[in-house]
Amino acid sequence: MTAPKRRARREKLGRHVLINGDAMTVLRRMNAASIDVIVTSPPYNIGLPYNSYKDAMADADYLDWMIRICQQLKRVLRPEGSFFLNISGTSRRPWLPFELAMRLQPLFSLQNHIIWVKSLAIGDVTHGHFKPLNSTRFLNHNHEHVFHFTHEGAVVIDRLAIGVPFKDKSNIARRNHARDCRCRGNTWYIPYETVRTKQQKFMHPGTFPVGLPGACLALHGVDENSIVLDPFLGSGSTLVAAEGAGANGIGIELDPTYYRTARARLRALMPARAGENAHS
Ligand SMILES: C[S@@+](CC[C@H](N)C(=O)[O-])C[C@H]1O[C@@H](n2cnc3c(N)ncnc32)[C@H](O)[C@@H]1O
Repeated sequence: MTAPKRRARREKLGRHVLINGDAMTVLRRMNAASIDVIVTSPPYNIGLPYNSYKDAMADADYLDWMIRICQQLKRVLRPEGSFFLNISGTSRRPWLPFELAMRLQPLFSLQNHIIWVKSLAIGDVTHGHFKPLNSTRFLNHNHEHVFHFTHEGAVVIDRLAIGVPFKDKSNIARRNHARDCRCRGNTWYIPYETVRTKQQKFMHPGTFPVGLPGACLALHGVDENSIVLDPFLGSGSTLVAAEGAGANGIGIELDPTYYRTARARLRALMPARAGENAHS
């Protein structure tokens, strides 16, 4: 990892704080037990062509770095907080997410393991965004992991906030449900929007759809007093979701170009620029 020498730049944008700087440096300065929900997708160390960050450490160094980051995330997370870690391996390097999750065992309870499904075939009907892969040995990679970590594994979640209607309506009364809504389960089908240009992908090689952090925030439950953190903000998807959920966001991004993209996305959601100021 190449840590920048300059001081982090901070900006307040509505109810959010955007920081252009190194996650580790910024996290170390944050108050303990100050964050309600962390949703993040760190670099996966799979050689993605980011603007400035080199996504190609030795695996051992990458894991050590991620552990140090997660130690800080544990420190800043409130006792009843949730940490949603989105990560994936590749067909050739399938172990990395599992290795990381195993290394995090001493720090967190794994309260839920969610599979984010990006593309799906039901019978002969296909759904979602399919990324073709030419291979004689690997299946196409259609999913990623979302590890829901908490301090003790006992955080109360709002399962029905992202629930689905019953197919068999007789189950509502038979199973004593107050309304036509059941738990969605831990496989979440959240496709990317189909885009044709890099601009529509925010000129970023590794975004997640806003629906993913949106579902995490709804599951944990947030309101106008909640603070949501993404230490690897990228194009700003988590803060877009936080804005939609009416929560306060803190986003940290190393790359100035992605930082500006995140700021522009958030600004586009704001009715006015009141309350905005910049300082370094
Ligand atoms: C997988 S991407 C996050 C994408 C984001 N979820 C989105 O939807 O746009 C990881 C991001 O981490 C950033 N990054 C890498 N090292 C960093 C560091 N030390 N501190 C802060 N951000 C970093 C990269 O520039 C990249 O934008």
